[in-house]
Amino acid sequence: MKTEILKYLKETKEYLSGQELCERLGVSRTAVWKVIRQLQEEGYQIEAVRNRGYRLTTSGDVLTEAELKSLLHTARAGQTLVILKETDSTNNYARKLADQGAADGTLVLAEQQTAGKGRRGRNWTSPSGTGIWMSLLLRPEFAPAHASMLTLVAAMAVKQGIAEITGLDCQIKWPNDIVLNGKKICGILTEMSTEEDSIRHVVIGIGINVNIESFPEELRPKATSLLLEAEQRFLRAPLVEAVLRSWETYYETYQSTLDMSLLKEEYNRSLASRGQEVKVLSPKGDYTGVSQGINDGGELLVEMPDGELREVMSGEVSVRGIYGYV
Ligand code: BTN
Repeated sequence: MKTEILKYLKETKEYLSGQELCERLGVSRTAVWKVIRQLQEEGYQIEAVRNRGYRLTTSGDVLTEAELKSLLHTARAGQTLVILKETDSTNNYARKLADQGAADGTLVLAEQQTAGKGRRGRNWTSPSGTGIWMSLLLRPEFAPAHASMLTLVAAMAVKQGIAEITGLDCQIKWPNDIVLNGKKICGILTEMSTEEDSIRHVVIGIGINVNIESFPEELRPKATSLLLEAEQRFLRAPLVEAVLRSWETYYETYQSTLDMSLLKEEYNRSLASRGQEVKVLSPKGDYTGVSQGINDGGELLVEMPDGELREVMSGEVSVRGIYGYV
């Protein structure tokens, strides 16, 4: 009922009478009033005027099930929603849900993570209420070898979602970062559980720095937020919706070929440092070459000084610009 009331309030610019709400939902005035109170407690500013009804004046930055459900039009992604005040890591939470049989498309979101995980064992700073810390659970039927490219597909969805909501044109730093003005705005951590030759589940963890006002000293040179770059705050729920909607479109394309052949042109157009010298940090030794974009398999093509074209697999590798992070 909460989702429906929220939807009606959003659709109605003028006052929505209590009577009308009762009739549409077939419930009592007290029941409607209770839900309005709950919504106000969650942060919605709803005017209640005698003889006129209710009016939503502003949608605050509310990240609740009712808010997201009132926005989501996806087929699967986010259709099962778990929203938490706090958890260690949404990836860990999603993995536990997966072990209990949670459905494909389940989305776990937290206001705050106390032990957010980054790639290569790093921490991910996830302060309360200022970012999108979420994990999408997938149960694909394809072979594990195809799963590494899901990070690339997710990066495209985040870039597209950010562009739609903020107008900001981010770049993708292969394989899993979204960057803006040379600094990281989003990181993606994909984790997979397999059984023999099949995938049990995949968890795609996405962290977007939305309204973070400042970063710890050591992160400042390479981390930023949408707020810091645009000098404006953004509502998180519409951004989650836009990312999930884009995700479904790109994922459908990906599943039709199980490689990046139909997506690589667009991916490469968004790729940071394309045509520039990059440093590949690999456990087998670092080297530099010119980034030539990704191939159908999602590997980064790096041209060596002698013309050799190396295919870099994401795994444990990290890529840097030769003068800095991007
Ligand atoms: C990276 O850039 O190293 C990846 C960062 C991924 C962070 C997100 S936040 C939501 C999800 N839960 C986690 O613990 N990590 C991912």
